Amino acid sequence: MPVRIVETMPFDDQRPGTSGLRKKVAVFRQKHYLENFVQSIFDSIAAPPGSALVLGGDGRYYNRDAIRIIVGMAAANGFSRVIVGMGGILSTPAASLLIRKRGAFGGIILSASHNPGGPEGDFGIKYNSGNGGPAPEKLTEAIFAKSRSISQYRILDGVTIDPDKIGETILGNMVVEVIDPVSDYAELMESLFDFELMRNLLQGDFSICFDAMHAVTGPYAREILENRLGAKPGSVVNAIPLADFGGGHPDPNLTYAEDLVKVMYGGNSPDFGAASDGDGDRNMILGRHFFVTPSDSLAVIAANAHLVPGYREGLSGVARSMPTSGAVDRVAKSLNIPLFETPTGWKFFGNLMDAGRVTLCGEESFGTGSSHVREKDGLWAVLFWLNLIAAKRMSVEAILKEHWKQFGRNFYSRHDYENLPLEAGKDVIETVRARFPDLAGSILGKYRVDFCDDFSYLDPIDGSLSVGQGLRIIFTDGSRIVYRLSGTGTEGATLRIYLESFEMDSARHGLDAQDALLDLISISREISRLEEKTGRVTPTVIT
Ligand code: G1P
Ligand code: ZN
Repeated sequence: MPVRIVETMPFDDQRPGTSGLRKKVAVFRQKHYLENFVQSIFDSIAAPPGSALVLGGDGRYYNRDAIRIIVGMAAANGFSRVIVGMGGILSTPAASLLIRKRGAFGGIILSASHNPGGPEGDFGIKYNSGNGGPAPEKLTEAIFAKSRSISQYRILDGVTIDPDKIGETILGNMVVEVIDPVSDYAELMESLFDFELMRNLLQGDFSICFDAMHAVTGPYAREILENRLGAKPGSVVNAIPLADFGGGHPDPNLTYAEDLVKVMYGGNSPDFGAASDGDGDRNMILGRHFFVTPSDSLAVIAANAHLVPGYREGLSGVARSMPTSGAVDRVAKSLNIPLFETPTGWKFFGNLMDAGRVTLCGEESFGTGSSHVREKDGLWAVLFWLNLIAAKRMSVEAILKEHWKQFGRNFYSRHDYENLPLEAGKDVIETVRARFPDLAGSILGKYRVDFCDDFSYLDPIDGSLSVGQGLRIIFTDGSRIVYRLSGTGTEGATLRIYLESFEMDSARHGLDAQDALLDLISISREISRLEEKTGRVTPTVIT
């Protein structure tokens, strides 16, 4: 099969964000668009001849076409093996695992995470390095630079592999290995959690509902929860990955996972509910009529990790992104282990894990994970909770109440204003920044401002400095307001306002978070002159 060298022209919009390159499907379908970006990856990583590449995606529209193109390009660029999930399917955490387990040079994951799919939806592509984690910024910038000057790409003509058949095919000088996307991952989960104990729980009268949201975790959850752990058939719903996610928005939160929320808050609801996102790295945990914030979930997991076999030896440290609540900080303090506060995005955790400094990490945006892979991992978090419930023999709600009693409760909420004009988004941020000098020391209702800053992070491992990571207004009682613009949206600007207050008094732990945060919410809108700058008074999504 001949290698074809194709002349091309650069596109100027191929700068990968924190989670790879995400664009509308129509953008990716432009002639040479995907090929240019893939060649820019290959040129930047300069994999030595004989390297292996892991390849798979969340099954969204254009996944299959992209797999075929990338396989042909890998063969023409000197890879000796491409490991592809059957049907082109690999969840993000499973891809991370395979890169590590198979000693691959890296991997390409096709996903736009929780963004809607289908011909009118989004597509995405990201490169993960040999440690299994997202490409560091140095590399994504190099890829972007290449994409600006590219003039040709290499591809093997006439690639016809059958991604639905497990086995090996020779393609030029390369082997294409189609594997079961689930089995390695399921095996790893069995090594971390007490499956015996969880089987007893799930085969008894404890009922669960896992909503795969028509996305990638369906096959993983069916195999692990129903087949291996014996949850009742039908416990996993929306389990078949669809190219358009059934027209939904596969983001596990109270707004987009509304079907699951209805089940969990309805009559005769299951004891435990959970959902994951498009590519399987996010998770939402619910009890009967009860929602666990991701920040609390991280804190509870850290405080109880000794109950889970894979973590019995203890935690080397924990990390959270800056906007994530400080609930886990107090757990770290009581365990006497280090706590790291990093910028938003998973890649900052990777360095800490590679250096053995942290075992657990998480973000307020429904992402939790550990050093078992280098991505956040939705199903892993669900299994962690099930293992805890089985070990403690307590309901989700009782576990949280006990936790708050011991550590206090961080009321927490994130208000998103999606699809703002780009200028309006920037304007809000600059308005807040301009008020910093006046705010310091001032009194706003019952709050006194301690300090304000634009969060920056000096990576303790590689010494790199990340600036401009979100505006913080910190009050003397530890309450906070944080403003930042999303780096992952594909339409206009998304403004995120994060609100947090701390309460030690257990008589007040039962309050609704929105009620407890009422004053801070109005202060946050006043400081940013939100309505004047954006015309908005209500967030599009509250989590
Ligand atoms: C969002 C989340 C962030 C997460 C990222 C990728 O990024 O807020 O925590 O790491 O998606 O899943 P944002 O859109 O806020 O930049
Ligand atoms: Zn995701």
